[in-house]
Amino acid sequence: MQPNNQHRDPSSSRSHVAPFHVMDVLAAAQQRQRTHGDALLLCVGQPATAAPAPVLRRARADLDNQVLGYTAAVGKPELRATIAAWHRDTYGTSTAAEDVVITTGSSGGFVALFLAALDAGDDIVLARPGYPAYRNTLQALGANIIEIDCGVESRFQLTVEHLQTLPRVPKAVIVTSPDNPTGTIIDAEELRAIADWCADHDCLLISDEIYHGITYGRQCASAREFSDQAVVVGSVSKYFSMTGWRIGWLIVPEWLRAPLDRLEANLTVCPPAISQAAAVEAFSAESLAELNSHVDRYARNRDVLLEGLPAVGLDNIAPPDGGFYIYANIAGLYDDPTAVDSMTWARELLAATGVAVAPGIDFDTAHGHEWVRLCFAGQTSEMEEAVRRIGAFTGRSLDR
Ligand SMILES: Cc1ncc(COP(=O)(O)O)c(C=O)c1O
Repeated sequence: MQPNNQHRDPSSSRSHVAPFHVMDVLAAAQQRQRTHGDALLLCVGQPATAAPAPVLRRARADLDNQVLGYTAAVGKPELRATIAAWHRDTYGTSTAAEDVVITTGSSGGFVALFLAALDAGDDIVLARPGYPAYRNTLQALGANIIEIDCGVESRFQLTVEHLQTLPRVPKAVIVTSPDNPTGTIIDAEELRAIADWCADHDCLLISDEIYHGITYGRQCASAREFSDQAVVVGSVSKYFSMTGWRIGWLIVPEWLRAPLDRLEANLTVCPPAISQAAAVEAFSAESLAELNSHVDRYARNRDVLLEGLPAVGLDNIAPPDGGFYIYANIAGLYDDPTAVDSMTWARELLAATGVAVAPGIDFDTAHGHEWVRLCFAGQTSEMEEAVRRIGAFTGRSLDR
């Protein structure tokens, strides 16, 4: 007799990671756009702009003139050298082209890095709230995830004190500065202290620096300024306005070069050739000028939200130092604290107003029901309109 598999889910237990709840909001927002034409998408974290003009020119030329076959698994030498030079110039490091591994978005880089550096069961420390894909990818790979609650008092960031109070030394720590979902920056002295602690304790520091370049009056330090044993994760997705081109990079200590080369060759063969070639142009003076004009707009958008959101009842914001997100608390909008639920709030806000925001439960499984994330990478007029509509929804208008 055949076993009755009708109700059995044959998928692996490792695939049972949490979904991105924001994707449900996005799908509903896209539906809203089709039916009402008034959706304001502050839910997904990506620039509203295309890649800079020199990147587009190079892509067009290479489509016409190059074969675009496989590249080296760790990336084209031209792009590795360009990123190394940019890192040296920006942070005063001694980064060499051989230290740079090009990856398929930083997302592909994280998978390869986790596989190269961690065994199943190894401890890895993350801040909560934090970018959900770290937790979900690490869970799928069988790592032992240690999430540390980082509240407004540490501006949602890990500190060296957090690490000093751990019962045992983890294999790795991830820091994200500027942060997603909060936009806060770890200042240079704190990052140095974390890097020193990691170096002293033989713990791998993984520094996600993919929002570097988008800052509001504060400088971002790179972990490689303080330790050549730290791994820096970068990407063209955010500052460089090239999310869909799927190019990221890792700057790694020597011991990780060969493992990453082996793994990358097997996992992806190589990152997309056309995107690698075009990404070289993202670091030109012409591109940087275009990209900095986007940052000027993000700064204006940030001001609109920082002024407007508290007035309409969203508060407890740690003003973002960088990136393009604001993480805001919605608990004050509820009389009954047990009823606070960011997913329901996000759905109801969308249904009533067409404004789509990300529920905090994606970023923080413990406290995220009290928070929402708003992305301000769009147009300034959209931010003004979003605040107005949220005010109408919460019953607290800006001019009260
Ligand atoms: C903190 C952080 N790291 C990594 C990523 C992944 O970016 P990508 O794979 O496009 O480089 C994101 C995307 O939103 C992010 O917010």
